[in-house]
Amino acid sequence: MIAYPEKLSLAQTPTPFYPLERLSALLGGPRIWIKRDDLTGAATTGNKVRKLEFLFADALAQGCDTIITSGGVQSNHCRAVALLGAQLGLKVHLLLRSDSQPLPIGNLLLDQLAGATISHYSVSEFKALDRLFEYWQNHYRGQGSRAYAIPTGGSNGVGMWGYIAAAEELGNDFTRAGICPQAIVHATGSGGTQAGLTLGCHVHKIETSVKAYAVCDDIAYFQHKVLADLQDWQARYPSQIDINSLVIDTCDDYVGPAYGKAGPEIFALIKQVAAMEGLLLDPVYTGKAFYGMCEDIKKGKYSQQEGDIVFLHTGGLFGLFAQQQYLGY
Ligand SMILES: Cc1ncc(COP(=O)(O)O)c(C=O)c1O
Repeated sequence: MIAYPEKLSLAQTPTPFYPLERLSALLGGPRIWIKRDDLTGAATTGNKVRKLEFLFADALAQGCDTIITSGGVQSNHCRAVALLGAQLGLKVHLLLRSDSQPLPIGNLLLDQLAGATISHYSVSEFKALDRLFEYWQNHYRGQGSRAYAIPTGGSNGVGMWGYIAAAEELGNDFTRAGICPQAIVHATGSGGTQAGLTLGCHVHKIETSVKAYAVCDDIAYFQHKVLADLQDWQARYPSQIDINSLVIDTCDDYVGPAYGKAGPEIFALIKQVAAMEGLLLDPVYTGKAFYGMCEDIKKGKYSQQEGDIVFLHTGGLFGLFAQQQYLGY
């Protein structure tokens, strides 16, 4: 058994778990199940909330009154931090990456409603992100505040606990459903969900592989980033677990034009899945990963015999509203 650190209760869990019968029949491959982590909350929803349960607990344990975090201008993570910070009475400062003057829509609109302080930086300024964090932490120290830094996506050894716990929850879902899926599939961006699930399946003895579909960067990047998160976790919470034996399985075939940019096939799939299953995907994360899974099913990359695949829906709905012009209505 594994000893979890302190966490706050911020996510609505366990999240629903059920099969997508019509879509599975249409694809004619293994049965697809959905784990609805897009239902961890209403506006404070998605995979980040699970990570933030541990990160906010750590921040409060350290006596911090301010949270600094970073991400793209439509970051789901930053939106979740802004809203949860407001809920907990903490000041939130977001460092957002954008090259043009962004419109106050989607996640950014919610950041603003939540009262977060927002600093916009260009892509080239963002390359010195470590120094930006340092600068703002010093700034708050000078004001007599104590600021807690959460890395992009909440992906580090602390945030990873969210998906170590989620793996345990999935194990219970599998037992209840009487299945032993061949794979848990999900979108990977900053790597923490992938690191947590990969480690979580190992520690909870779940005989299911974890397959991450990249929405940016390549396999080599995720190999390095996920291992770095695992090493950070090991350094903070020493154990006998051999993290080097874990299989970090990333597919980078479906990244598309760039991070945050999707081709017409992704928007077509978003429409199809919404109409067929009442399930909303987004063009930045879940749409790309779901598309990759469907294509790989069609290509026969998943076993037909072993039966079941689980798609972890990590949220991202507000990002869809920021790109509604590509839906063609
Ligand atoms: C909706 C959504 N799905 C997936 C991810 C990827 O998770 P991670 O950053 O832990 O790789 C993110 C975060 O970046 C996200 O917002």
